[in-house]
Amino acid sequence: MATPSPATASKTDPGFDPIKQDGVSPPDPRTGKPAGVFDDVDPSQKSDRWQIRVRGLHKTFNRKHYVIRDLNLDIERGKTNIVIGGSGQGKSVLMKHLMGLIKPDRGHIYVDGVDCIPMNDVQLNELRKKFGMVFQYAALFDSMTIEENIIFPLVEHTKMPRDEMLGIMKTLVEKLEIQHLVSKFPAELSGGQRKRVGLARALVLKPQILLYDEPTTGLDPIQTKNVDDMIKHTAEEFHVTSVVISHDMASTFRIGDRISMLWAGQIMECGTPEEFLKSKFEFVREFVETSGAVDFEPLGPGEKPLSWPPK
Ligand SMILES: Nc1ncnc2c1ncn2[C@@H]1O[C@H](COP(=O)(O)OP(=O)(O)OP(=O)(O)O)[C@@H](O)[C@H]1O
Ligand SMILES: [Mg+2]
Repeated sequence: MATPSPATASKTDPGFDPIKQDGVSPPDPRTGKPAGVFDDVDPSQKSDRWQIRVRGLHKTFNRKHYVIRDLNLDIERGKTNIVIGGSGQGKSVLMKHLMGLIKPDRGHIYVDGVDCIPMNDVQLNELRKKFGMVFQYAALFDSMTIEENIIFPLVEHTKMPRDEMLGIMKTLVEKLEIQHLVSKFPAELSGGQRKRVGLARALVLKPQILLYDEPTTGLDPIQTKNVDDMIKHTAEEFHVTSVVISHDMASTFRIGDRISMLWAGQIMECGTPEEFLKSKFEFVREFVETSGAVDFEPLGPGEKPLSWPPK
């Protein structure tokens, strides 16, 4: 298998500047457009279909190597958008950019048609109210009860009376079926229960977009299925756009409305699960098929798989 160069490959040429490096992405041979771009619609126009449009995002750390390389990605409104890709390929870094927690070297992230990259701290704080984040290990405060953990964002960001906060919390815990846990402490909960509490906390400020970083890591198959159901249920019940980073191919194809594969700093393949399983890229097929979870549409007689990056 021809493995594309890892995202962290550095160049030894002393004149090499990973930030200025341009034109590294040849067009997708199927569309003639840069990888990850599928239409000609101006991303700075608000779109009914796309809530987030990332264009030309580039990020290096310490000017040594790039992690995200002129990346393009579209996130569909109200859908479950999954980002897959190998460990260390930049998935979490990409997610932090979406929330404005990291500044790129260059590029644009349009949320509802507004570019967030030039925003100042006040504007970014306002933008972040649209987002909720469910962290990999739930990141609960151990010294607080579950109830206190869930209302924490309301205490931090609003001047709401406590009764009102508890009312919001009560509705949420009932919907997520964790009402029996509210007076416990995080240490008393299982991994799956913690993830539900983390989700309740992410939902308490009524975000439009929910980001999940590897929500099923460390869970057994039944808990994984429960968390998958929770993500789907949350998307429908609260009408949110979900962006899910996942390592789990079975989960990805079970709940994804749209799947994007990140590798070597770029979106290598992207589409609905049906479109994705028609991918002609050899590396995409091998990466996903190794899991045994899904099969790609066979290539036609005499048809050769495409290499990536496209030549
Ligand atoms: N603050 C930072 N400073 C320097 N390098 C960083 C920083 N954050 C991330 N990186 C590097 O960026 C690369 C991508 O990291 P990232 O955490 O996004 O990977 P990932 O795709 O989420 O991997 P995993 O699946 O293991 O969680 C890694 O090589 C990592 O070391
Ligand atoms: Mg990660």
